[in-house]
Amino acid sequence: MKGLILSGGAGTRLRPITHTSAKQLVPIANKPILFYGIEAMVAAGITEIGIIISPQTGEDIQEAVGDGSAFGAEVTYIPQHDPLGLAHCVLIARDFLGDEEFVMYLGDNMLEQDLVGFVAQFHSRRDAGGRQTAAQILLAKVDDPRSFGVAELAPDGSVVRLVEKPDDPPSDLALVGVYLFDHTIHTAVEAIEPSERGELEITDAIQWLVDAGHEVAHEVLQGWWLDTGKKDPLLECNRLVLDSIERSIHGEVDDSSRVEGRVVIAAGAKIVNSTVRGPAVIGENTTITNSYVGPYSSVADNCEVTSAELDQSVILAGSRIANVARLTDSLIGSHVVVDRVGHVPAGLRLMLGDHSIVELE
Ligand code: G1P
Repeated sequence: MKGLILSGGAGTRLRPITHTSAKQLVPIANKPILFYGIEAMVAAGITEIGIIISPQTGEDIQEAVGDGSAFGAEVTYIPQHDPLGLAHCVLIARDFLGDEEFVMYLGDNMLEQDLVGFVAQFHSRRDAGGRQTAAQILLAKVDDPRSFGVAELAPDGSVVRLVEKPDDPPSDLALVGVYLFDHTIHTAVEAIEPSERGELEITDAIQWLVDAGHEVAHEVLQGWWLDTGKKDPLLECNRLVLDSIERSIHGEVDDSSRVEGRVVIAAGAKIVNSTVRGPAVIGENTTITNSYVGPYSSVADNCEVTSAELDQSVILAGSRIANVARLTDSLIGSHVVVDRVGHVPAGLRLMLGDHSIVELE
């Protein structure tokens, strides 16, 4: 079985962070989102992984993931020049996939559940004989299914209909961005036409399988699932992942500092006259001085937090936060400076990139 991870797209909903970095590389608990997907595949025994990249994301992703050996995987990059849809990704990955079964995974999705059970269910259905399962989808109950692909199930549990982003959803079961296919999907992606948004939809390709009489199995997701492509779900995801970390202190903590609860302090980090209250992670060579870092914060490598308070926030590498009373619910890019300088005349002095958002008290 192979893996196909979709890491293209422009990441428009996470601007300005994505002006300079791929959305799949934004860290959750100081680890790029994409790495969680790769690790989940390897843990399920899938080590031949194709990653779809776009002109916007390609270079950074290739630099971060390399040949995959750091994950125990062998990674092949497949460039998609225009965002022509998820089914288009399958189309262009044909040579890489061959006729093997594969798990397709959207690179900006995060799931609590691993892939081991999902893959095992597919194999046990096949071993049980009967109709061959051509696809297996993962579904989650959501409050508002209109922004997802939505599945309708028959009373016996079989998948009868799938619709992409319907105005009038037939159920509350959304398609999670994890799919398992056999070679039949290649016929489906060649047969379908682009949707109204001009994309070849994987949802339509799976509907094609249903219409052609192929078996489409499903599993209802256990645990949480988030599409991290926007700020608030991303912070929520950071909270959920931090909830499962274990305390480990590798950096230096001086005598006048307190590190409370489940906190990770990476090597080379220094905590000076400060309080860090978990769950929180502090990256390599980051210095926290005369400050408070509160629960659900991830401060990446090479940052400086000085005379500041923050919580519920994600700070990317190389940023400096100083003299700020309280930063909360914030996503700060890399090499950003937030400082209260106290110059007169009083006022905010800002230099913000395109699509930045500043919410004042
Ligand atoms: C895509 C799929 C949709 C699925 C969703 C999951 O939507 O088209 O069926 O429910 O991912 O995140 P998109 O992110 O392209 O809007």
